[in-house]
Amino acid sequence: MAIDSAFISELKFRCPIDEVIGSYVTLKRAGSRYVACCPFHSEKTPSFTVFCDTSSYYCFGCGSGGDVITFIMNRENLDYIDAVRLLADRAGLSMPEDGGQSDKKRRSRERMLEMHRLAARHFYENLTQGENPGKKYLASRGLTAASVKRYGLGYAKDSFDDLKNLLLKSGYSLQEMEAAGLAAKSRKNGGYYDKFRGRLMFPVIDLRGNVVAFSGRTVLPDGTPKYMNSPDTDIYRKGNIVFGLNIAKSGGDGTLILCEGNIDVVMMAQEGFKNAVAPLGTAFTEEQSRIIARYAKTVIIAFDSDGAGQKATSKAIDYLRMQGVTVRVLRMQGAKDPDEYIKTYGRDRFKLLINDSKTPTEYRVDMLREKYDLNDTAQKMEFIAESSEVIAALPSPVEREIYAFSLARELGISAETLKADIERRRKKAARSERRRAEQAESRAVTGGQDTVNRDRSKNLLAARAEETLIALLCKNPDYLDYITSQISPDDFVTGFNRRVYEFITESLKSDSSVSTLSFDESFDSGQTARIMFMLNTTVLSDNMRAQTDDCIRTIKAQKNGKVDAADLSSEQLAALIQKGDKKG
Ligand code: UTP
Ligand code: MN
Repeated sequence: MAIDSAFISELKFRCPIDEVIGSYVTLKRAGSRYVACCPFHSEKTPSFTVFCDTSSYYCFGCGSGGDVITFIMNRENLDYIDAVRLLADRAGLSMPEDGGQSDKKRRSRERMLEMHRLAARHFYENLTQGENPGKKYLASRGLTAASVKRYGLGYAKDSFDDLKNLLLKSGYSLQEMEAAGLAAKSRKNGGYYDKFRGRLMFPVIDLRGNVVAFSGRTVLPDGTPKYMNSPDTDIYRKGNIVFGLNIAKSGGDGTLILCEGNIDVVMMAQEGFKNAVAPLGTAFTEEQSRIIARYAKTVIIAFDSDGAGQKATSKAIDYLRMQGVTVRVLRMQGAKDPDEYIKTYGRDRFKLLINDSKTPTEYRVDMLREKYDLNDTAQKMEFIAESSEVIAALPSPVEREIYAFSLARELGISAETLKADIERRRKKAARSERRRAEQAESRAVTGGQDTVNRDRSKNLLAARAEETLIALLCKNPDYLDYITSQISPDDFVTGFNRRVYEFITESLKSDSSVSTLSFDESFDSGQTARIMFMLNTTVLSDNMRAQTDDCIRTIKAQKNGKVDAADLSSEQLAALIQKGDKKG
């Protein structure tokens, strides 16, 4: 059965490859990728790699590779349909074909949502009617009735059965409450009791306006934990919702402020910064960065000013930039978080902080500057070396130039010298990247026999250009029209690459995202793995436009036999000369 491609797109969007694979093996971050020891062959050093920007994986050791569906097929030993079914289940999607089975599940999810809606309304009434500890706490934090209304805040009484009794009366069972994370079961006597007690309640609201979970801050002087959050349920998965986005997404100019705490979000909105969001009870996840990227062009990171906040900032910068978001970093002095800052210094000074927020490079260099004593020559050298590495990693030559210039001026050294050092580091990094790719390439083609692309070894120059062109297209789906106007599948020299090119251009015409392409139905596992290799290991240059034109030129020249003589065997050369003679 062919599954609707729109469904596969949705499925792949809801099943981020790093999360799915991360639930089978321990992934370690390495730049924009993750690595792990390969689950498909035994190894001691990790060569299994997950590429988030193409939503794919490839093992440089055993050559297996594919997308999230391929992974499940291989790992769970399932065929394509069953792998899709497993992932659909995981994502809470019902398969396009089967209604009956998932009807029950859909109904129970609906009831869970209704329970949350009832609970949120109940907590809101607890808070807003009459005097209560929640209201007192709210006042002590300087939050207003308008904020309560905006975020639907509430109060869970310090009682074991306040919510339980209400939900029982409304026809929900204790088991349903437990499954929803609203009630807990006593280990001593098996009785059920309210999970949230004596807490200021923050409803967690998804982008459709459903309350799907709660986060509750204790209002009791010695209450623990400080924040209690709903567990993962059938309607909520930690790390797949951004607190406050339901409100922040609709206002403003495509800029969001990302902070750590729920209270920070509410306080910022109260003071006029209605575009604040927070990760909610977890470290900021890659999935959250993906969600944010759909609503924001720019994100200002305003995490806590402590060490943990700095670490989190560094990670969030990487995640967000990988999604193409412009990142700024807000730095606070004299307060730990935005809530405290605004209370101490007022909204106008906070506004200044926003305007003064730094680019990620400025931020990273600032961090280094604080680490070293620049009056000490040895430390100053260290600082220059590390800062140069930061600048060398920037893809844009203009940016490198700008930062190099200002750093040189600050340090009182010549800009030319610093720039030369930066470019040297950049070349060195590019060389080792290329070497890695070449090594992997020679490993992929075992024993000189390429069974996936049989034409490849005889047409290396053309094959490489074809592969680079395919990788360029996947990296820049917006090149589609241009590339297809310049070159057709018939121009391709090697058969396998031609098929891949055809498949990708056809798919991109109906769905502009590469990460949702599904190769498994059209290619076998060896072929799919080769495609992943191609997409993820090809070295792309700074100027991808020019590289595209180069590739097209090379492929066409190879196709037409205008071959670089150095690449030809003597027989080929002789044949060409003969051909030329006939023409002439
Ligand atoms: P912080 O510990 O930084 O607290 O937690 P805060 O925001 O300053 O808390 P207030 O101002 O005293 O209320 C930041 C966020 O981390 C999550 C919550 O989402 C919180 O808003 N958190 C914190 C938890 O999930 N559990 C905890 O026990 C603590
Ligand atoms: Mn705080």
